Amino acid sequence: MATVAEPSKEAFINLLSQINENEFHDFDAFVRSALDEYHGQLHHHGDDNAEDIEMEDHDGSFQPVNDLKMVRLGRIIKELRTKLPLSAEAPEEKTMIPDSEEFKDFTEKNTVHVDGFLFSEEDVDEICDEGKLSRNYCLDCQSRNVAPLNFISHSASVLQLQFLYQVALADKTKGKVIVDVGSRLGAVLYTGYLFTAAKKLIGVEINDWFCNLQRDMAKKYKMDDRIEVVSKDIQQVPELLQQADIVVMNNVFQFFNDLSTQQKIWKYIRTETMKKPGLLLVTLPSLQEQLKEAGLSQKLLKGWVKEVKLNYEAGWFQDIHEDELEEIRQVHLYKIL
Ligand SMILES: C[S@@+](CC[C@H](N)C(=O)[O-])C[C@H]1O[C@@H](n2cnc3c(N)ncnc32)[C@H](O)[C@@H]1O
Repeated sequence: MATVAEPSKEAFINLLSQINENEFHDFDAFVRSALDEYHGQLHHHGDDNAEDIEMEDHDGSFQPVNDLKMVRLGRIIKELRTKLPLSAEAPEEKTMIPDSEEFKDFTEKNTVHVDGFLFSEEDVDEICDEGKLSRNYCLDCQSRNVAPLNFISHSASVLQLQFLYQVALADKTKGKVIVDVGSRLGAVLYTGYLFTAAKKLIGVEINDWFCNLQRDMAKKYKMDDRIEVVSKDIQQVPELLQQADIVVMNNVFQFFNDLSTQQKIWKYIRTETMKKPGLLLVTLPSLQEQLKEAGLSQKLLKGWVKEVKLNYEAGWFQDIHEDELEEIRQVHLYKIL
């Protein structure tokens, strides 16, 4: 006797037979993420926290970086500062303030973009002292009534990158392929080149202007033997995620895509990375936070990743103050199951 599902199965097989080879990859990703979502909703019991995400301890290894490499990095940063405005935005670049609880008080007027790779907190203080930037804005044009401006960075800071390569990935990069999704100024690529013996560092960036900047810099600083920059939307190049041993994602989508696009890309990232068990994923901030900000369920983490618990407080770097500790706490490491 035919079951209720038989007509649906037949309809599905008919549908499959209509899809040509070029479209199959897209359709496959769509079906997988639709099924994931269906299961997520079906088994959702109202408890949307990720307390039950699998965890393992980090091995505690540390990779030193010599002063010469820091000097080379300093030269790159100095040159980038001359090529970019203080906000480090590309000409005509459009960013958006996320429509979420965290950014509810942020407006175009009270928000400034200052790049965290090009300028440390101390640099920003200096720039403010020089009068080139203000920490406050006037609420009603009476000079005493001021409120602090919100600072946003679209790059990882040098300290975050040191923690990422020297601690989180310490002994895991030799001979590996690292892909930075949304590589922007190239911060993850240049530091990866200097701090690791990775075989290849690939940056994927949707903004052509930034791609050309990264290529020029990699060439000028003789890093183009291991650095490659791909000028594409990550959704168009799933093969790069298959090639990668390590994928880095620093808040790639939130300021650059509307919510529904963010959700679509996260589901795509999940589907594609799941094809590579053992792949390491480094995110800033945590995946938990990024999924939440994108309005997605924490249930997506289940069956996708295991978190490698990092120790932020072990005194890896000298003279770190609380703000800087907060910066490195953004770095999270996961292993694809
Ligand atoms: C927050 S920045 C990260 C910069 C860099 N990875 C770092 O850590 O310093 C995110 C970058 O991702 C790019 N981007 C946004 N959506 C993208 C997509 N779908 N594919 C590729 N790049 C994207 C943006 O243009 C932006 O330059």
